[in-house]
Amino acid sequence: MISLRKITEENFIDAFNLHLAQGQDKFVSHPIRSLAQAYVYRDQCQPFGIYDDDMMVGYVMVIYDYDIPEYDIWHMMIDEKYQGRGYGKAALEEILSYISTKPFGDSCRVTLTCNEENKVALTLYKNLGFEETGVVYDDEIELSMFVNQTMR
Ligand SMILES: CC(C)(COP(=O)(O)OP(=O)(O)OC[C@H]1O[C@@H](n2cnc3c(N)ncnc32)[C@H](O)[C@@H]1OP(=O)(O)O)[C@@H](O)C(=O)NCCC(=O)NCCS
Repeated sequence: MISLRKITEENFIDAFNLHLAQGQDKFVSHPIRSLAQAYVYRDQCQPFGIYDDDMMVGYVMVIYDYDIPEYDIWHMMIDEKYQGRGYGKAALEEILSYISTKPFGDSCRVTLTCNEENKVALTLYKNLGFEETGVVYDDEIELSMFVNQTMR
């Protein structure tokens, strides 16, 4: 059973101990760096541990961009030991469900970026409804979708 739990003093060390596979650090920031950013953006973001029952298997941050406005998904990762077991897909569904509650602002737009070489993540995002916007930052492709208020 996959769930999201807010990062707190109870579980931040578990997030520090998550591992990426070799070469994946070019695709995503480690939770240690992400949590530093979460402190800077603390009024507009929420970092989560991704849990299978009581075990943290991954990490993700949701941040609201008030300028656009839109929800952004940053730094989603599943620990290398647990990749390829359906956790990423289940977590993304939970993240979209959370965003559909509009925790920060009213926008229905959800955006993320993904390295063009990251075929696993691109497949995951497109299968759940994300589409390329045509915006590219260096080797990062921007993808977006819309959630509605009845999704939950
Ligand atoms: C990308 C990531 C979050 C996906 O999570 P995951 O738990 O490994 O993926 P899942 O098992 O849920 O699989 C999701 C989809 O990815 C695809 N996929 C998974 N493993 C794959 C593999 N080895 N090869 C090709 N496609 C694969 C499948 O399409 C799968 O969907 P399906 O089972 O419905 O066909 C995870 O692999 C990860 O953390 N990677 C490193 C960090 C990263 O790249 N983060 C994303 C930054 S944009």
